[in-house]
Parts: sequence; C-alpha cells; structure tokens
Amino acid sequence: MTAIALNTPDFVRHQAIIDWVADIAKLTKPARIEWCDGSQEEYDRLINLMIDNGTMVKLNQEKHPDSYLAFSDPSDVARVEDRTFICSEKEIDAGATNNWKDPNEMRAILNDKFDGCMAGRTMYVVPFSMGPLGSHIAHIGVELTDSPYVVVSMRKMARMGKAVYDVLGTDGEFVPCVHSVGKPLADDEKDVAWPCNDDKYIVHYPKTREIWSFGSGYGGNALLGKKCLALRIASVMGREQGWLAEHMLILGVTNPEGKKHYVAAAFPSACGKTNFAMLIPPAGYEGWKVETVGDDIAWIKPSKDGKLYAINPEAGFFGVAPGTNTKTNSNCMASLSRDVIYTNVAMTEDGEVWWEGKTKEVPDNLINWKGKKHDGTEKASHPNARFTVSASQCPSIDPNWENPEGVPISAFIFGGRRADTVPLISESPDWIDGVYKAATMGSETTAAAVGQQGVVRRDPFAMLPFAGYNMADYFTNWLDMGEKLEKLTKEHGTQLPKIFKVNWFRRDDNGDFVWPGFGQNMRVLEWIINRCEGNANAHATPIGLVPTYEDLNWTHSDFTKDNFNTVTYQDKDEWLKELDSHKDLFDKLGERMPKALIDHQAKLRQAVESGM
Ligand code: OXD
Ligand code: MN
Repeated sequence: MTAIALNTPDFVRHQAIIDWVADIAKLTKPARIEWCDGSQEEYDRLINLMIDNGTMVKLNQEKHPDSYLAFSDPSDVARVEDRTFICSEKEIDAGATNNWKDPNEMRAILNDKFDGCMAGRTMYVVPFSMGPLGSHIAHIGVELTDSPYVVVSMRKMARMGKAVYDVLGTDGEFVPCVHSVGKPLADDEKDVAWPCNDDKYIVHYPKTREIWSFGSGYGGNALLGKKCLALRIASVMGREQGWLAEHMLILGVTNPEGKKHYVAAAFPSACGKTNFAMLIPPAGYEGWKVETVGDDIAWIKPSKDGKLYAINPEAGFFGVAPGTNTKTNSNCMASLSRDVIYTNVAMTEDGEVWWEGKTKEVPDNLINWKGKKHDGTEKASHPNARFTVSASQCPSIDPNWENPEGVPISAFIFGGRRADTVPLISESPDWIDGVYKAATMGSETTAAAVGQQGVVRRDPFAMLPFAGYNMADYFTNWLDMGEKLEKLTKEHGTQLPKIFKVNWFRRDDNGDFVWPGFGQNMRVLEWIINRCEGNANAHATPIGLVPTYEDLNWTHSDFTKDNFNTVTYQDKDEWLKELDSHKDLFDKLGERMPKALIDHQAKLRQAVESGM
C-alpha cells in the first residue's frame, strides 16, 4: 500500500506534529488527511457535508439562524465512565475511583482497535488552545479525528485553527489526542448518519500526556479538549506544577456599591452549573449583577499577590438543553439565538428546536431525537440533549472572561443533588473542613453519564469521573494548596478563599423540590458574598456555619420560615448515615487517604453525636 499524501500546508512548521500525523495515518489508514484552519469556509463546508450525510439537519433559518441539529445514534448519547481509563504506570496512581489498565497492555489493545479504523474516512487535524491563545495559563492540543461533527464542535468549544500553529512555532509543546468513531468504511460501503462503535475506549496516559478515544462521537467522549485534556490530563499537570484543574463554573458578582467578587462552583454534571453561571438576580436585587466567566471548567493558580486566579479554558458552552427556558435561564436562551449546534433535541414541523421544559405546551407533530414522529410514549428530546455555542454569544459574559491572567477567586462553592440530609447552605469554618466537605460530596446520578440515574453516589469535588490520578492524592493536593495559600495570604494580608456547600435539590415529603432555585439562588449567593466581606451573620452547627432565616434577604420572596426549615433541617440519624457513607469512601480510597481528613471525620462524628 502506498503511503497516504500528507499534504502539509505552509502554516504548519512543527516537524514533530507532521511526523506524528504521518504515524497515526499509517496506523488508522484514512482515505485522506485534512489540516483544519478553523475558517468559516471550512466550518460551512463540513456542516454541509454532514447535512448531505444525514448527520445533521438545517434548522429554520429565520428562527434559528446558522443553527443545526444532529441526531446521534441512540446508543451514543453520554459519557461512558466504565469505558474511561487512566493508564498510569502503576495502578495505585490511578486510584480506586478510576478504571486502570497497564499502559503497555492498553497500547496493544488500542493498536489493534485503531489499525485501519479510519478507512474510507477523512482524518482531520484539529489544532486547539485550551485558554486564550498564547496565554501563559493556556495549553495546546492537537486532535486527530475522523468525525466532522467533532471538528465543528471543537471550533466552538476551544480556540481552534491556524493561529494555534503560530503559537506552537516549530517545536511548541502540545497534547496529542487521537479520536476515531471506530467505523471503517469499505470501498463500496454506505456510511450511516452517526457512525460509532459498540466497543468504546476513552484512554488517558498521564505520563506521556496522550489521549486516545475510540468508538464514540458524543461530546464528552470525543471533544478531547474538554473532559479529557482540560480535566483529566490537566489535573495531572496541575498537581505536578502547583495549580488546580476543576469541574467548576466561574461567575462574577457585583453588589450595588460596585464591589465585585468572583466565585468558582463545582457541581456534578447536569446539576445546574450553566444556570448558576448565568443567573439573573430576581426582583428586589436591583443594582446587583452576575456575570459569566465559564460554566464547566476552571484552571486555578495561586499568584504572587497572595490570591488564587482562575481562567475558563473553554471558548464555548456544551450545555444540557432539557429544562432550559426563558424563566430558568434567559441568558442561555439569548445565547442560543443563532449559530448553535444542537444534538438530540426534538424538532417541530417548521424546523424549530424543542425539548422538555422549553415551553409548557408540547408542540404538535414533533420529530423526536430518534428522528421519529413523537407520540408521547417517550421523551421527545434525550435527557442529555445538548447545545454547543460560543461563549461570546452569552449576554452575561464577563468582561474578564478572556483575561489571560484569570480572575481572583473569593469563594468556592460545592453542591450536590440531594433530596435530604444536606442543608441549603453551610460555610466551612476552615480550609480542612472545606476540603472534607468537597471530598465527601454526594449527588444523585444524572443522564450526563451512561448508567442508572437518581442514585446517590459519592462524587468528590464533582470530579469523580474527571480526576486523572488517585483521588486520595487529589485531596492531598487541595490540602497542600491550602497550606501554600495560608502562607501567601499571611504575607500579603489577603484572605483565603472561603468554602461553602450548597444543595438546591432538597425535597419535601411529597417528593417535590422545596427551594425554587435558579434566580432565587441569588439569595444564597448574596449571603456568601457578604460572608466574604465580613458582614453577614452565621451560627455554628456540628456541620458548619449556617444562616438563620433572618440572615438571608427575602425581599419580594414568599419563601416562608417553614420552607426554610425544610431545606436547612439537620437530622442526626441522616447525618450519622451520611458519615458512614463518607467512611466507606475513605476506606475505598485506601492507603493514600490524607490523615488530616480521616481525623476530621472523627471530629465531625463526635460533633454530630453530641451536638445535633
Ligand atoms: C459535561 C459533563 O458535559 O459534565 O460538562 O458531562
Ligand atoms: Mn461538566
């Protein structure tokens, strides 16, 4: 077989990339190679190609200018956690919460899988920067993929295109990412609209910082800059280099006096990060402003001035559509006014998108996410249906969202989805308690990952599926960061970020949510900001500092003291059970569990036993 023509364009002058592309082409045997430049012409051409292939449909261009809808294969709709691997040299370095395989064994498996896997397809070379181009905080990756859907999505989610090669020059560092849908085509074989493979592998080699993804076209498995690079590989880099890669939104809050604070908040997937990041203060909060830096990932570094600075490494939002409407997230709906790629939402007769919760009325004659006429027997859109849109289209985007230095963080918020036990809001009295609360966070599972939904699982720091190394070492990294920050803040007279825990999802005896959430979360956010400013009350409880009803601002709210009690009530039996479950997690994490957290658990148990 003759070697495939590389056709390297003039704008690529990086010999290591050229050699690597040649090697991967030799292995995967694509029909052709296309070096992406990130241009509008390229984007339009690939969109048209996917319309011709049946991967996408063009939406009503009056209602949804420049917007398209892709229907995935029904089996390829979410992240596949049980097929995601951290292939560190030693098993213990991946830890008890990650799937591990020996790197040599995995390389042998993948060599076999990737051999000829791009036959009949185009291999696209996609250069991208996570973080503003050229920023000292940014990291560059190059993804080789046989999916045009990945190319157009990466153009929205990252800084993608020719300019990346200018930053890389002839020998800049990059993270190599290889992706294939895993469906080679024989010469005369007709392609399917959403090619994928039942056998999936999402593989990370932390030592060599490589990512290999096989068999899925779904965002979290296939847009390798996002979860794979910006969280799993970046968390490893961060640990080595003294910074944090976190599953966190970043927002800015300005009070009526013009004082601004930034907070970073971690919630598990599909628990409202995008809504919180784009919150619109409710009536009664005139003069307050909330602005969006990011909705999913934060890279956070200590600075010489004694503060922590965070950037959003992404350039777009890959958000969950169901439940989003003008009431729950009007900034998001405005962001979606044009130039959007939707996946697995439903479509009306005249080419408008629809999903559960978009409007009360279900439109007639819907086409469901499986491309069939909606007959009401199942959901019209998939619960994990997504939109992909550039962050710059968001009306609440923060003026500093692309500041290469990042934004200073005043507080961290951790939140799970819990029907009971965990109160609406509590503040950790110190860093160790904050790390403990984040480490033991529990949340009900959602449709963002394949598997059973609605069961409580421990999701430390909302990073269970995303930590690229041993979770116990990850806790130690946070404890070490606290020590480092304590020294820095003392030197500079600055304040250590405070740590809060929230739960918007408490239910009453009928199983209904009690807290109204969305814009009303501003009341909790205000208390958090005021605590950072040192001018809000709190009282100590066995599980942290909490406000009384009177400590929150209820202007224009009909949320009663009884309601407040329901969402803040601390039940001793529930908490003793909760602590048992924390212990199970620590036991599972094993020998590397930091002693400080084990000791803290004993302290908390004593406090709950004697004081709740
Ligand atoms: C996401 C996720 O897509 O967390 O952000 O699954
Ligand atoms: Mn996420």
